[in-house]
Amino acid sequence: MLNIEEVNKEVRNCIKCGLCKTRTNAVPGEGNPNADIVFIGEAPGKNEDLEGKPFVGAAGKFLNELLASIALTREEVFITNIVKCRPPGNRDPEESEIKTCWPYLKRHLKIIKPKLIVTLGRHSMNAFLPNLKISQVHGRAKRYKGLWGEKQVYFPMYHPAVALYNGSYRKTLLEDMKKIPKILSKID
Ligand code: URA
Ligand code: SF4
Repeated sequence: MLNIEEVNKEVRNCIKCGLCKTRTNAVPGEGNPNADIVFIGEAPGKNEDLEGKPFVGAAGKFLNELLASIALTREEVFITNIVKCRPPGNRDPEESEIKTCWPYLKRHLKIIKPKLIVTLGRHSMNAFLPNLKISQVHGRAKRYKGLWGEKQVYFPMYHPAVALYNGSYRKTLLEDMKKIPKILSKID
């Protein structure tokens, strides 16, 4: 089986969808290949595109803070996105782009086999858990279809970027994050 670095190399060279034309760098994701938790955002933004790393801008700073609030570092978890290249002007990724990029995420998850998948934002959540509304299910663990038949535990959270515009989301994100250690301890 491929290791993470081999998948990442393929992502960096990928030309499977139109987003390859406008990207500076693809952003495969980074972190611990044996992580218990994988955090999945939507798509790289401007800073991520420039650096080739996930969540390095303002939303990333808050994600670091959220991790620190439960004594985790970026190096202990794995952080990636649903699509690996920046959509121009940060528009939402299109359905076809999500579909084309999906096999990379699947391969990452197959290597990492995380106990918990934390989805950040509506798009990431709906890629795994269709038809759910984030306002209703954020901060609640859901056991649902995994990518290979076995059940997987998911934990939907709001996207950390929403906290930058609205302080009440900031509080909600911190409260939801606080639930993760207990959820993790119950999974096996
Ligand atoms: N927002 C995302 O969804 N992903 C990133 O990597 C950065 C910002
Ligand atoms: Fe390839 Fe995904 Fe980038 Fe599209 S978004 S070019 S599928 S890596």
